[in-house]
Amino acid sequence: MIQRRWGAIAALLLAGLASSASAAAAEATTVLMPGVPPSRVVGWVGKKTPQVAAKLDATAAVFAPEPGLVALGRRVFFDAQLSEPRGMACAACHDPARAFTPTLSARALAGPGTPEGGRAGRFSLRNAPSLLYVRYVPRRHFYQDDDAPYASPFGGLFVDGRADTLAEQVRGPLMAPNEMNNGTPARLLRKLNQTGLADALAQRFGPAVHQDPETLMRALGEALQAYMQSDEMAPFSSRFDDYLRQKTPLTPPEMRGLALFKNPDKGNCMTCHTLSDTASRPERSLFTDYGYDAIAVPRNRSLPANRNPKHFDNGLCTTASELKWPEPTQWCGYLRTPSLRNVAVRQRFMHNSVFSSLRDAVAFYNTRSTNPGKWYAQGEAFDDIPKAYRGNVNINSTPMNRRAGGTPALTDAEINDIVSFLRSLTDEPYVSAMPVH
Ligand code: HEC
Ligand code: HEC
Repeated sequence: MIQRRWGAIAALLLAGLASSASAAAAEATTVLMPGVPPSRVVGWVGKKTPQVAAKLDATAAVFAPEPGLVALGRRVFFDAQLSEPRGMACAACHDPARAFTPTLSARALAGPGTPEGGRAGRFSLRNAPSLLYVRYVPRRHFYQDDDAPYASPFGGLFVDGRADTLAEQVRGPLMAPNEMNNGTPARLLRKLNQTGLADALAQRFGPAVHQDPETLMRALGEALQAYMQSDEMAPFSSRFDDYLRQKTPLTPPEMRGLALFKNPDKGNCMTCHTLSDTASRPERSLFTDYGYDAIAVPRNRSLPANRNPKHFDNGLCTTASELKWPEPTQWCGYLRTPSLRNVAVRQRFMHNSVFSSLRDAVAFYNTRSTNPGKWYAQGEAFDDIPKAYRGNVNINSTPMNRRAGGTPALTDAEINDIVSFLRSLTDEPYVSAMPVH
């Protein structure tokens, strides 16, 4: 999408070539999403990340988790014994009444805007996403589009892609000190052993659940993954979905918003937040390509970690160094593009919860480059990215590519139309949960 970083491209190509021969012998294909035909691997980036030959097609995915396992996963998801101290379930931060996004406590609303953990006054380091449609997040991979000068990373869970699968991801919240705070799998096992939940998991995964912490973690992971892959977690019941199915029209402001969202000279949102309004299958409109970008939202000065001016959340480059991708710092500031389905129910926006209205989140794109002083403290553009990495920020995509003082791409009325359109992406059960933005 962005034409730069030629050095990195060469490094990636070399990395791919160097290991492709041996990799091809060992494993020529990889499955990136359940039910999707295996992807052909053309090389490896770092040690473990496959580069695949063709773009992934989410509509080919088949999710058929076994109903018994889904029910067990649902039980785990709502079980408040899973935190230390007890009292916090996954559902506490991924609220089923708010499209599985957080409903923030008064303390969180007055403070950093990220969810409060199992211990009062401790907050998640980042905002929490909706878990609806999370089953479509593919495993980590690189892919080079025909017109792109280099291969780009896609997929992986969390905004920095640090977990490869849902089953693997659950360890994060269960152990994080600011979240469920269980310390170690062994401690969690000791606590759960006396509960009916451990018995139910053992019935399914065998008696080792009671003895071996890793077996317990696998059991929790597989059950939760099955739940998150179930159709319950991908309802496709928004007014926009009804529009795609040609059941109900959108209103005139929503239609204008849709056109602006797609228009490459106006919102240009669709280049990252993908949709296809000519296809009746809503899986074609997941509102993300699962790629990464650096749009440089302002620093959230209420996050406890940001009291230290030297602290930065560097996003994908942390994962890139762990995975030994070449030149990992080229990915500092990059975050996975989120889906915008159900975005209008949220109380806070962006990975660091810096915005408290959807309108601000949209308006930011429009005037980030024309009026940076409106968004960044002391007018220091890209203030949440270390100076050394500010060259990574996307300054090429419309509408973020204008000169300071220039005319923005969208008028105030047009921003309102885009917001109206985004509100049509809310699934039916959550329509009344949308704050008036
Ligand atoms: C204290 C709040 C909190 C709790 C409890 C919590 N989460 Fe989360 N969850 C978060 C935050 C914050 C993120 C984003 C973190 C990041 O991107 O680094 C997240 C991200 C995720 C993601 C990644 C989604 C994506 O699009 O990449 C999944 C899946 C998830 N959580 C599932 C769970 C499950 C399952 C549980 C229970 C075992 C759980 N969460 C408990 C706060 C929480
Ligand atoms: C170049 C890719 C790209 C383009 C173009 C783009 N976005 Fe985004 N969008 C992102 C990324 C990456 C994030 C995550 C940023 C973060 O969390 O700091 C994001 C986040 C968002 C969010 C916050 C979602 C949440 O759950 O908090 C909204 C709303 C949004 N975008 C709307 C838009 C709109 C409207 C447009 C068009 C005006 C647009 N985006 C254009 C990549 C893009």
